[in-house]
Amino acid sequence: IQEIEDKLKTKKLSEEAAQKVKKELKKLKMMHPTSAEATVVRNYIDWILSLPWGEKTEERFDIKEAERILDEDHYGLKKCKERIVEYLAVQALTKHLKGPILCFVGPPGVGKTSIAKSIARATGRKFVRLSLGGVRDEAEIRGHRRTYIGALPGKIIQNLKKVGSNNPVFLLDEIDKMSTDFRGDPAAALLEVLDPEQNSTFNDHYLDLDYDLSDVMFLTTANTLGGIPLPLQDRMEIIQLTSYTEFEKLNIARRYLVPRQRKECGLEDVEIDITENALRTVIHHYTREAGVRSLEREVASLCRKLALRVLKEGKEQKFEIRGADVPKYLGVPRYRLGKKDEADLIGLTHGLSVSDHGGDILDCEVSVVPGKGKLVITGLLEKGMEESAQAAMSYIRSRAAALKLESDFYQKVDVHVHFPDFVRKDGPSAGVTMATSIASALTRVPVRSDLAMTGEITLRGRVMPIGGLKEKLLAAHRNQIQTVLIPKENRKDLKEIPRRVLAAMRIVLVDHMDDVLREALCFEDPEALFGPRRLVLEYRNGELIEGDEPRAIRPSRPPPAAPGEPPPGPPPEQPGLS
Ligand SMILES: Nc1ncnc2c1ncn2[C@@H]1O[C@H](COP(=O)(O)OP(=O)(O)OP(=O)(O)O)[C@@H](O)[C@H]1O
Ligand SMILES: [Mg+2]
Repeated sequence: IQEIEDKLKTKKLSEEAAQKVKKELKKLKMMHPTSAEATVVRNYIDWILSLPWGEKTEERFDIKEAERILDEDHYGLKKCKERIVEYLAVQALTKHLKGPILCFVGPPGVGKTSIAKSIARATGRKFVRLSLGGVRDEAEIRGHRRTYIGALPGKIIQNLKKVGSNNPVFLLDEIDKMSTDFRGDPAAALLEVLDPEQNSTFNDHYLDLDYDLSDVMFLTTANTLGGIPLPLQDRMEIIQLTSYTEFEKLNIARRYLVPRQRKECGLEDVEIDITENALRTVIHHYTREAGVRSLEREVASLCRKLALRVLKEGKEQKFEIRGADVPKYLGVPRYRLGKKDEADLIGLTHGLSVSDHGGDILDCEVSVVPGKGKLVITGLLEKGMEESAQAAMSYIRSRAAALKLESDFYQKVDVHVHFPDFVRKDGPSAGVTMATSIASALTRVPVRSDLAMTGEITLRGRVMPIGGLKEKLLAAHRNQIQTVLIPKENRKDLKEIPRRVLAAMRIVLVDHMDDVLREALCFEDPEALFGPRRLVLEYRNGELIEGDEPRAIRPSRPPPAAPGEPPPGPPPEQPGLS
């Protein structure tokens, strides 16, 4: 008890907290010191006294230094860093934290958690991280009332005790993975924490007194915006991080991951050269991801293997890992590079999708069998896709004549649309993909395999804009797709695409399904089917080409017969619609 009283004198408790402690202390003095009651009271007093009351680390407001530290820890992320620096600049001028909470949103492994750590370092604050994944109880945030046996304060207070300063950077990690159930909504508790107007009087159920959180710098991260409750989104400023291109990954590996792993493995004083080619091999054949987490793991594995060699063979010589050596260290390559050397197949189209893991190629397969006009879709979870498949089917029926199909073809066949890679989340943006696959399967004309597409489709075949264009194009680039068809209305989004990616692909802007089929199917003479080519917009080598181009520019590929499939039908003879 003496100890508590001493502490009470040295700590700068708030008025309310000091009163509480004194009151509880009075109770404690009247109790038997070993009774269960007394333990509860003592614990409570301990909690209050162990919290950081007015204990701060010195904040640093030097913006130049902050910029330097952010650059030192992370490659690229220009926009994101700019926004952080602006945010810090405002704080430096006003000397207090007001304004929205920053929320980093992006696919896994792009550096969300680690940039938050950098911010802590750049501002001279301590760092705490609370993972909200799987939190589904308000009490985990805000604590249980003291009347419960074994009650504890919530995670916010617990973590503040752990860091021992009341102005840390507090990272609420994976805020989109939080869920709710009958025990109350953790998001509601977070609302209070994250609202700068309210959080100076944060009330933990256990402590039952106001604690001032207004000096804590809250940051949050999420993989998708979709998982964040709207009222929370409203209080945050969203900073989007996107997938890295191959070029960026290479630079991150060379400048950050390799030196870091070398240090971890104690190889700093050994002469090591992991060539650019080797890193490229690792990126292409051992990882397939939006961020750089697996890449870091593989680099770590390389370094560990080198460490072993160094111990066995001595430090004197130079160790070099070249591209061809990588399989010796990491085993058989796990991924084949891209889709480009696949054959053109009937009924198989590459679509593009986005999920919370970044963009990816989404294959769509269609097979047509004699039947009674059923349309079956498998391999997906989203309702929207079923409807776009029906729209796709309606479009093809309306184009039956042009495609040389009998007018009642749909009554004689069953169409099965299948997405072989299990699709997690994608709305209607697979519409054009399905329509292309169905058209290909019905006409028995193969689809170009070096081409990918994205777009929503309407009944009459118009191609509607889609979201997530950047992630989708990066995925196409990662898979070495040569040509990408995108909706014309998405043209404005091309501004955000890195130049290198634009330059590496041919991007065709389409607004009608006819143009999609013209580009995607290996027709011998599309003009005969759809009439003369209309005005097209396309980007080639990063430059916009407007107007009609002679078709000969594109190397025309004779459609090879797919294995196991009948060869494409005879070339059309009569002119189609025009
Ligand atoms: N631009 C970059 N420069 C240097 N290192 C990076 C960069 N981006 C990511 N890294 C490194 O990649 C690793 C993974 O990053 P991090 O853990 O922050 O991912 P995350 O975005 O939080 O992913 P998740 O959503 O899965 O939590 C870290 O070691 C990080 O330092
Ligand atoms: Mg993280």
